[in-house]
Amino acid sequence: MVAISATDRVFVLTGAGVSAESGIPTFRGVNGLWRNYRIEEVASPDAWRHDPRLVWEFYSMRRRVAASATPNPAHLALASLEQKLGERLFLCTQNVDDLHDQAGSIRVVHMHGELFKSRCDTCSRAPFRDTNTYDPPAELPRCDCGGRIRPHICWFGEVPFELDRIFRALDECTVFIAAGTSGVVEPAASFVAHVGGRARTIYVGAEEPANASAFTECHLGKAGEVLPLLADSIQ
Ligand code: OAD
Repeated sequence: MVAISATDRVFVLTGAGVSAESGIPTFRGVNGLWRNYRIEEVASPDAWRHDPRLVWEFYSMRRRVAASATPNPAHLALASLEQKLGERLFLCTQNVDDLHDQAGSIRVVHMHGELFKSRCDTCSRAPFRDTNTYDPPAELPRCDCGGRIRPHICWFGEVPFELDRIFRALDECTVFIAAGTSGVVEPAASFVAHVGGRARTIYVGAEEPANASAFTECHLGKAGEVLPLLADSIQ
């Protein structure tokens, strides 16, 4: 395993596999969420227009699961890496749970949004913390402006959050690490190609991702076992 040096600028992209050992289901794979739910019915602007109750039922279920989850050694390793590297670590997660934050990571960029935040679908009211669940027959929440309160999540067909900051950090990094992500959802799946040839690129996960050929190193294993080794390798 290539060691990380204290002068490297490290970009870490995490995916659902990093939270799997905390009991949060991944999306693809045997017990993946997309085996039981159709993306277009629960995670798209069309779904929201056609059946906001079903959308809230889906995100309420996910809030309940995430509320009882706690960080695992993968989250803790990345928090300790941030303590060593400070602002030379850029942690970008596709995960909407708050386990990186709970583990102590301070500068987490949630490119697909945050499960425990909601926002108005009509006015510019800022996203706000919301741990409530909205299962039928409960009334769906409304904003003071009359708009509907929706999950603060990037749905399919929407643009991920903070892309400008993310691409600036990609341009600056000397090491790129992707962990626990299947490498199929854009734009995150192309981050490795964006930095390839310039930065060292490392994949950590249970199996080879779809974009495996773009990485210079692949470490197959559980994130909770491999990421602590990587974090400890820092000289
Ligand atoms: P996926 O479910 O597509 O992939 C999870 C990856 O984690 C797979 O490659 C697994 O092999 C791996 N994995 C499972 N358990 C692991 C473990 N303990 N340690 C390490 N790896 C493990 O999840 P993502 O790639 O994160 O987007 O999915 C990307 C996006 O697709 C999500 O953010 C979500 C989804 O649709 C939105 O909802 C916008």
